[in-house]
Amino acid sequence: MDISYHDVLLVGGGGAGLRAAIAVAETNPNLSAAVVSKVYPMRSHTVSAEGGAAGVIRPGDTLDDHAYDTISGGDWLCDQDAVEIFVKEAPEELLRLEHWGCPWSRDSDGRVAVRAFGGMKNMRTWFAADKTGFHLLHTLFQTTFKYKSVTRYDEWFVTRLLVDEGRVQGVVALQLMSGRIQAITAKSVILCTGGCGRVFPFTTNASIKTGDGMALAFQAGVPLKDMEFVQYHPTGLPFTGILITEAARSEGGYLINKDGYRYLQDYNLGTPTPQPVLRNMELGPRDRLSQAFVKEVEKGRTTDTPYGPVVHLDLRRLGEKVINTRLPFVRELCLKYENIDPIKELIPVRPVIHYMMGGVHTDNDGATPLAGLYAAGEVACVSINGANRLGSNSLPELLVFGARAGKAAALAAMEQKPPSERVVSQALDEKLRLEQQFLRKTGGRERIATIRSEMHKAMENGAGIYRNQTSLQKAADKLRELRERFREVSLDDHSLTFNTELLAALEQSFMLDVGSAIVESALHRVESRGAHQRTDFPARDDRNFLAHTLIFNNSDGSTRVKPAPVVITRWPPAERVYGVQSEVKQTAAR
Ligand code: FUM
Repeated sequence: MDISYHDVLLVGGGGAGLRAAIAVAETNPNLSAAVVSKVYPMRSHTVSAEGGAAGVIRPGDTLDDHAYDTISGGDWLCDQDAVEIFVKEAPEELLRLEHWGCPWSRDSDGRVAVRAFGGMKNMRTWFAADKTGFHLLHTLFQTTFKYKSVTRYDEWFVTRLLVDEGRVQGVVALQLMSGRIQAITAKSVILCTGGCGRVFPFTTNASIKTGDGMALAFQAGVPLKDMEFVQYHPTGLPFTGILITEAARSEGGYLINKDGYRYLQDYNLGTPTPQPVLRNMELGPRDRLSQAFVKEVEKGRTTDTPYGPVVHLDLRRLGEKVINTRLPFVRELCLKYENIDPIKELIPVRPVIHYMMGGVHTDNDGATPLAGLYAAGEVACVSINGANRLGSNSLPELLVFGARAGKAAALAAMEQKPPSERVVSQALDEKLRLEQQFLRKTGGRERIATIRSEMHKAMENGAGIYRNQTSLQKAADKLRELRERFREVSLDDHSLTFNTELLAALEQSFMLDVGSAIVESALHRVESRGAHQRTDFPARDDRNFLAHTLIFNNSDGSTRVKPAPVVITRWPPAERVYGVQSEVKQTAAR
């Protein structure tokens, strides 16, 4: 078996992975850093982030305001020490990106433009039109080329972490082009594989977001944290789930029901105003907006379509100039995927799975409880997002904690000796497993597609915007059954070159683990908080549940759950209040 040797391995080539790779190179250019990614880095899901990245920059805004918005938005489940680090380092990272070439949109006076975003009391979201993720990822990708010490394994899929002497020592990876399976060893490994939206049927997430890093860590005994908190974004296009950015509402778009009524006024989110108002109505937090949609469905005030009930986003009043300059991608998506021109027509939208607040348990430097293993970006739970992330906090999160994890992993690698001999035999075992379970096996009774669609149904029915004991238990039982049945999968395609059926099987097995972690964690939390709404326990219960949920994988495949304390520094738990505050000033670009 081929073995390659590096100092730091980044699993995932999106924003967090590339930012971490740069941090490794800047910490010590003599360290060999390798980015292993199942797709070419520019195809990572960061590319599809639209609305922007939050960071305090304008006079009048403060780090404390950003921290408070984040903590109250997260329903007090955020670790406040992590949030304080985050809000301080976010503007520094965004400026660094500017110096590396990120074309942030500008006001006419030359200052970096900022826009309002949901749940934020000040305008602090930097943006590059409505293609922020594309520009951010491009900037990071081109910057990695400056560092000779960064190498890449494009289109390699990691199937297992190599762990020996209580420390991660590398991975086993499959090259998709050739089917070659080999060990890639390293002294530190950083998981940057993003979230797991594909565990659900209807999501803004690219098809690559299958929870790989979460499952790899979980299988290696690392706990996942707060997995019950799954974010629905209130405005996805029906059928495709394509994101219509929150920026459309910050520019002044209205959400209306089938009667043309701005229904959010009925849900403690403030009163309608002609211009957008911060933390009010359409600029409320995502969990509350998605919950309001369900209530509208129950009241019969939504419009039925072949792809489920929808409400409408009305951008017509913004006019052609604003739409073309500030929301060109929204228009392009509507034209291409709905045959609708938002300058003249209403956009049908409904809540769609968007983001995982939970993920691999880490400290503020991305370190997991397993020595040598780090995680950053959506795959990780630091936690700054608590029970509900605010829009535009995820891009700065992946920059801040990608950089911190890269630095910490580099420093740790400098202290480590080369990998043990034993990991080679572990890698050989893994190669044998892949060959026996997938490449040589015939005659299995189960199909991947059947298992996937049953998993989707179980997750959507059991663990959606509203859940309860019965729905979650049913989903948990179904997932247990599907994990058993997955053993009976065999592939039709035994070839080695770009075997996409093999890839789908590996991803499916990861998704079953991650889906189970979501459901089991949700069963454990018998209260409602943020994005986790239990109809059988509708109130927040700080006495018993102001705590993180850590879920562990037992060696027999069962799970166990343990609470962990939330770090409160300066903001004691309080009620979340949204409604009229101050009107969003019209930006100079208008
Ligand atoms: O609506 C959006 O543009 C999404 C942004 C985010 O999830 O941070």
